[in-house]
Amino acid sequence: MTAIPLFDLSRQSQNAELTASIKAAVERVLDHQQFILGKETVALEQEMEAACFDNKAHAVGVSSGTDGLLAILIAKNISAGDAVITTPYTFFATASCVHRVGAQIVFCDIDPKTFMMDPEKLRIILASLKREADGALRTAKGNRVKMIIPIHLFGTCCDMDAIMALAQEYGLTVVEDAAQVIGADYPSKEGVKKAGAIAEMSFVSFYPTKNLGAFGDAGLLACLDPKMAEQLRIVRNHGMEERYYHKVVGGNFRLDGIQAAVLRARLPFLSQWNEQRQKNAAIYKEAFTKAGLLDRLALPAEPWAASGLKNHHIYHQYVIRILGDEAVAQREKIIAHFNKNQIGYAIYYPVPLHLQECFAYLEHKPGAYPESERAAQETLALPIFPELKPEEIQAVVAAIAEALKGN
Ligand SMILES: Cc1ncc(COP(=O)(O)O)c(C=O)c1O
Repeated sequence: MTAIPLFDLSRQSQNAELTASIKAAVERVLDHQQFILGKETVALEQEMEAACFDNKAHAVGVSSGTDGLLAILIAKNISAGDAVITTPYTFFATASCVHRVGAQIVFCDIDPKTFMMDPEKLRIILASLKREADGALRTAKGNRVKMIIPIHLFGTCCDMDAIMALAQEYGLTVVEDAAQVIGADYPSKEGVKKAGAIAEMSFVSFYPTKNLGAFGDAGLLACLDPKMAEQLRIVRNHGMEERYYHKVVGGNFRLDGIQAAVLRARLPFLSQWNEQRQKNAAIYKEAFTKAGLLDRLALPAEPWAASGLKNHHIYHQYVIRILGDEAVAQREKIIAHFNKNQIGYAIYYPVPLHLQECFAYLEHKPGAYPESERAAQETLALPIFPELKPEEIQAVVAAIAEALKGN
């Protein structure tokens, strides 16, 4: 039996056009030697603005998605005495950056269907906070809430209209965590918007497994205000505009020329990769339906499917949920079957952030964010990468059917 990997970048080497383009891009950098920022980064920023943000947002290349968020928090002066609201069911980076600037992390639980920030729960949290005469919103610890960071998880957007309306009501900044969603569209009530260009600012990750990945760490910021883009450019480069004159304390959040060049070579392929992921998701749906498993598993939610937008979901991950009282045990059975059949899988995310050891100081007990905790125990990510073969998808579904048989 041949193994089915969760993700396999090596299959892209069969794409001769892509390989030639990447090699030419790297050679170009070896020739011009602009290894840090430089003309490749400038060109990537412009190409990303056109391809992924409809030229509505200004792009700033950074060293990773995580560093990008740190740069945003520094640029917005988020520090001790402030508080930021985000969800506990996500990758560590979002909350860790808030911690690193000394601000208080306030968690908001997720919608159990989409796994993303639940605007109703956000409304309850905001209404429970103390609002001072000047409009300042304070947590019980006395910190001022300034920002909301909703996370667009797995390839589709949060309920941004609802989140943005609440942010406006309370005078808060919204920063989109668009790490997993580049190329997706969102049907806002003001018209179609590109993921990452909905709120004031966003950050994207080009981690190699992302839909658009670099060959190392890399990321991008997008922001609607050109002045803020300039500020972010200063922060990403040690707070300098003129060399060795530091306006603010920034960091080394610079994008490498080689990564920018590789990304420029890969960007023209993003829409076809996203389309291939969408096709794979459709094959999964059909196979799960045929196998009669739809009462045992919840397939990924498609909250914006009714919009008819082609890219309402770009399937960065294909995350199913095991249903029923026995979900935890059944997930174990599926995993055992996957291990036996060499099928790759992942759990995104096994421990919600409020229960991570490093955040014990926040004193959250199990049960504090029940939907995040349940999602951590009942979900499973299946292979979905663009080059996955239809027969491999059938084999994954057959293995799940076999694992659940007779249960
Ligand atoms: C939801 C989310 N946020 C933030 C990040 C951090 O991005 P990076 O790995 O580029 O630092 C990632 C990527 O791993 C992510 O998936």
